[in-house]
Amino acid sequence: MKPSVNSSGVALAPTVADVRNAVRAARRAGRTIGFVPTMGALHAGHVSLIQAARSRGDYTVVSIYVNPTQFGPREDFSKYPRPMAADTAACEKSGVDLIFAPPTPEIYPPGDQTRVRPGQLADALCGPFRPGHFEGVCTVVARLFNIVQPDAAYFGQKDAQQLAIIRRMTLDLRLPIEIVVCPTTREPDGLAMSSRNAYLSPTDRERGLCLYRALCTGRDALAAGERSTGRITAKMQAVVASAGIMHVDYLSIVDAETLEPVDDPAGRRVLIAGAIRVGATRLIDNIVVDVTGSS
Ligand code: PAJ
Repeated sequence: MKPSVNSSGVALAPTVADVRNAVRAARRAGRTIGFVPTMGALHAGHVSLIQAARSRGDYTVVSIYVNPTQFGPREDFSKYPRPMAADTAACEKSGVDLIFAPPTPEIYPPGDQTRVRPGQLADALCGPFRPGHFEGVCTVVARLFNIVQPDAAYFGQKDAQQLAIIRRMTLDLRLPIEIVVCPTTREPDGLAMSSRNAYLSPTDRERGLCLYRALCTGRDALAAGERSTGRITAKMQAVVASAGIMHVDYLSIVDAETLEPVDDPAGRRVLIAGAIRVGATRLIDNIVVDVTGSS
């Protein structure tokens, strides 16, 4: 079956066969294939990934699929936003060539039992708070990669741990796909864009900003020459506490590649990362800092 062309012009592919046919035709026409995996509820962060693919001239495929295996039993799978009409319009506006929006049996066929289990990168940061999450992410991304077979796939720095795990998986499974990282897109006040921001009341949104402020406090302390990660994280904790946030999953300074905790950041590339809960909403964010100067 040929993918149907939506009234707005972008092609919609609900099945694996549709995607393979469309991608094959694009390759025959001499195009490279760029892939942007998403769970929909598209915002400017997603659009920046699409623009990166388009700017390299790729035939751009966006998947929109809320992947059940990456949600824990008490997480927000059923209430995750699914604004398909708005997402289709956003894809059309940003020049996407093909949307892959599959029903679950296309990704998890009847009798499905195979999983892709990541290694110790998945034990850091969010790992202990979301058991099984990164296994779900690897499993769906490996399947999506096999379906689309792109030359390049675009991911956001916003989800730094996911990015590190997917880079590792791509290397380990010998997948011939370039992983391209795009910077975190923020609201004018600094809040990292996220589909989950839609859950926040105006008061909670204001309180949620303290996460980015805390990360900036850590970055500024490193820039001012502070080299004790213990003292820096204490400062970051204080910023979050003063906003009345009671629930901090973590505020950490880790090696940007291995995600292992760093005691002495001098001369290293570090990730300052945090996850907090604001009401029922979990927010994550991070900043990468090259700590080159010594003090
Ligand atoms: P989702 O949260 O929809 O994010 C899709 C992609 O958009 C990811 O690469 C994410 O890092 C990127 N992204 C999200 N917010 C961003 C921002 N503010 N700035 C830049 N990029 C941003 O991540 C997932 O979906 C899923 O886990 C997925 C990889 C699709 C597997 O199900």
